[in-house]
Amino acid sequence: MEYSAKYKTYLDTINGYVDEVFSSLIGNDTLISAMRYSMTIGGKRLRPCLLLAFCDIFGVSTTLALPLAFSVECIHASSLIHDDLPALDNDDFRRGKPSNHKVFGEAIAVIAGDALENLAYEHALSRISTPEQVKALAYLSKCAGENGMLGGQAYDLSKNNNKEERTLLLIDELKTANLIKAPIVMAGILAGKELKALENLGTLLGVTFQFVDDLLDVTGDERLVGKTLGKDEKSDKLTAVGVYGVEGLRTKISDMKDECLKIIDTLPNNEFIKQLVTELSTRAF
Ligand code: IPE
Ligand code: IPE
Ligand code: MG
Ligand code: MG
Ligand code: MG
Repeated sequence: MEYSAKYKTYLDTINGYVDEVFSSLIGNDTLISAMRYSMTIGGKRLRPCLLLAFCDIFGVSTTLALPLAFSVECIHASSLIHDDLPALDNDDFRRGKPSNHKVFGEAIAVIAGDALENLAYEHALSRISTPEQVKALAYLSKCAGENGMLGGQAYDLSKNNNKEERTLLLIDELKTANLIKAPIVMAGILAGKELKALENLGTLLGVTFQFVDDLLDVTGDERLVGKTLGKDEKSDKLTAVGVYGVEGLRTKISDMKDECLKIIDTLPNNEFIKQLVTELSTRAF
């Protein structure tokens, strides 16, 4: 199947699953609306797509992977709600729409982020049964935690004025690469594969992904990116643009993409993943 058609198939599958889960949630209406808002107003669905795509190449069924793909997207959505809060990045727009706290207020946004993190585990635990699925969920929980995405978000708050590459890599591996590595490695766990190469690929792809995000903050088109751009410099963030410069960063991204492709070349049925990685390194949104 052609690349875009396949991506759309993954998207439709994930969106259908998200709708199904949300139609059965019972609880505070405002809270559920806030959770649904951030789970359904767009977004590339990159992380769950990665899980389904890697499961496909390893021959793992989508049925086994879907509850876990949902969990990864819940944690991602929760990280974005909290990332946009005034106490963190103070961003008014996300995916071309007002951020969660701009619609629902800060208090509900805080709770909605918490509730999505909880839903990630509550939902998965109600649907999974094999030891591999449990192991994959445990892996996700590590990637999301204080030595994972959340730890990275905490480092990102400090003044990192030194523009040191190793500080940048520490932050980006933690805050971003963890949630990109997680679905790739989780597929490997479900398939009973050797994990080392998948972990390396996940980290490299995740850092590349954040580098492109940093580049787009400087060179992107706001209507396409759907976020207020130019904010990283204003907020004095340590970014890949600050460390490498715009042109240096373009070269770096292209080199890192090539390194990712080398690892992917060792995997079976890799055409879709290869194109996905290439698209991500040149994305405009
Ligand atoms: C945004 O992630 C946060 C970063 C890690 C840069 P995405 O760019 O995957 O966000 P959506 O889900 O597609 O909006
Ligand atoms: C996002 O980094 C990392 C997480 C949300 C975990 P950014 O702060 O650069 O992401 P955007 O630009 O707001 O999407
Ligand atoms: Mg941030
Ligand atoms: Mg941000
Ligand atoms: Mg950014």
